[in-house]
Amino acid sequence: MADDFAQLVKAQADIVKIVGEHVRLRKAGAQNWSGLCPFHSEKSGSFSVHQSRQFFHCFGCGVSGDVFTFVQKIENVSFPESVKIVAGKMGIPLPKREFASPAEAAEHRERGRLIELHEGASAWFEEQLKSPEGAGAREYLAGRGLSSEGIARFRIGYAPDSSSALRQHLEQVVPQEQVRSGEFARLLRLAGLFTSKEQEDEAGNKKDGPIYPRFRKRITFPIANEGGRTIAFTARTLESGDKAGPKYLNSPETPLYSKGQVLFNLHNARQPIRQLNFALLVEGQMDCISVSLAGIANVMATSGTAFTEAQVRLLGRYTKRVIVNFDPDTAGAAAAEKSIALLTEEGFEVRVVTLEDGLDPDRYVRERGLAAYTAAMRGARRHSEYLLDRARQLHPPVTAQGKIDALNYLLPHIRRMPNAISREEFASEASHRLGIDSALVREELKQAATGRKGMLGSAGPKLSDAEIYLMRVLAADVGTPAFTAIASTMDSNPEYFTGLPAERVLLFLRERKAGTDPIHVLPEEDRAVFARVLFSEDRRVLGLAESEGALHSLKCSALEREERALKHEMSEAHRLNDDERYARALSRKIEVQKAMRAF
Ligand code: CTP
Ligand code: MN
Repeated sequence: MADDFAQLVKAQADIVKIVGEHVRLRKAGAQNWSGLCPFHSEKSGSFSVHQSRQFFHCFGCGVSGDVFTFVQKIENVSFPESVKIVAGKMGIPLPKREFASPAEAAEHRERGRLIELHEGASAWFEEQLKSPEGAGAREYLAGRGLSSEGIARFRIGYAPDSSSALRQHLEQVVPQEQVRSGEFARLLRLAGLFTSKEQEDEAGNKKDGPIYPRFRKRITFPIANEGGRTIAFTARTLESGDKAGPKYLNSPETPLYSKGQVLFNLHNARQPIRQLNFALLVEGQMDCISVSLAGIANVMATSGTAFTEAQVRLLGRYTKRVIVNFDPDTAGAAAAEKSIALLTEEGFEVRVVTLEDGLDPDRYVRERGLAAYTAAMRGARRHSEYLLDRARQLHPPVTAQGKIDALNYLLPHIRRMPNAISREEFASEASHRLGIDSALVREELKQAATGRKGMLGSAGPKLSDAEIYLMRVLAADVGTPAFTAIASTMDSNPEYFTGLPAERVLLFLRERKAGTDPIHVLPEEDRAVFARVLFSEDRRVLGLAESEGALHSLKCSALEREERALKHEMSEAHRLNDDERYARALSRKIEVQKAMRAF
């Protein structure tokens, strides 16, 4: 959009009036108005608008700008869109669109034609549903509780089993020069309404065969863009069984339509979403239609996939609060999880509804009624609670490994949340509910919160019971008799500890000062080992006798290790005919074996 047009609009716009649509302003001076800032929450008005300078500023959060900045921020739109919006409010006609190149102009014309074709097809499908051939489809829809008003509202139609009727109809409704141009078949295919099979001619060259309609013997649901124009279809089979093909057949990706960039019913839902400041998100278009017809206007469907980034951005222009109500099956849970991840990352507040008895929103709202459904929505769990329940379900936290797995399932989700306070809340809730309230977990979660890689060592090295016990003793308290016994053995017989997975952790723990949290003395790479201690189900008392038992067991293992090494050494010496080396190893081995027999 040309800059001089923006200037023209700005000159005629009244910022006080436009801001006044969103903020209750009172006069605070000859040229000044003030009110509560719409961009941060406050109790006293720091937000000022200057009439003659056509400028706003918030002394609280520091936002400022002109009328376009305001509209961009409040409506979550780009600059060109803000100019259009302000022009619209002022009743200034938009300039004729200019295109950067002839190619761009041609593309724009073509998109216009594709929309015309879709609108024509949509009207025709609606007609077909009312025709004798549509009887079966009408019966099916009635069986699913759809009234003729509902059918009309969503422009539901029927694609009959004819290979030529749709084309003949479209030839009549579009401008005649298009039909005569010889381009028509190409356009029908480009629109995705028609398709063709590749064929080979006599010379063996591949070419496109005759075109035929993509949707046949299916109920059609138009998919609209934000402005409500039809840009694609999804079409449901009436049949069940294998030969019916996919249950829903969708338009392919076309210049008008890309599945991951569209939300079904957004054009109807966007005003209600803005007013209510939340959106309800369901999976299937039938879910969306039934829920919407029951009276919940702010509902949209993802159409059976997890949310995409493009859809998140699209929705973000209207609200940052979402209730997700996906199917209670595995695919639904997976889609919900992925959607939650994307949405929370973008700072959305997400709640999750799970309907009882395995019902999807479509059946639930029809069988149990609007009141029951709104009650279920009110009972939506915060996404953190939902994920916690999922974590516990997937990884029952009854064993140490279960707790680690459950926590590892949650950590990426926690890390993703952009708000520090929510992260903190989620983290402490998680450690509480998983029964792993410990310094280590808090530390891991804090790392997740700061975006660093936090993953508790679920794989990790294998630790012996003795090592775990000794770490527990050293971590519990500094300077107890057991602590001292372990520390002095570490000095006198370091070989008991050499090469053990817990070696470094024991050294760090032993060096720490009284009153310090063990986790803080451990370098990051050693925390995974220590995690095993905190999650250990070992509940033996931490006493001197038990510690000596554990040290003894380390000594045995050390001797066994040495015996193995000496055997290896002897065979090596033998191979090299090194008698002296062999004798040294042998005499040491006899000593070791004697020591082993002594226990
Ligand atoms: N879907 C699709 N292609 C398929 C199957 C499903 O695009 N072959 C999408 C549709 O948008 C569908 C959604 O995934 O609405 C959910 O699929 P499913 O739960 O199988 O369908 P329902 O919504 O339950 O469909 P219906 O109620 O019509 O049986
Ligand atoms: Mn369903």
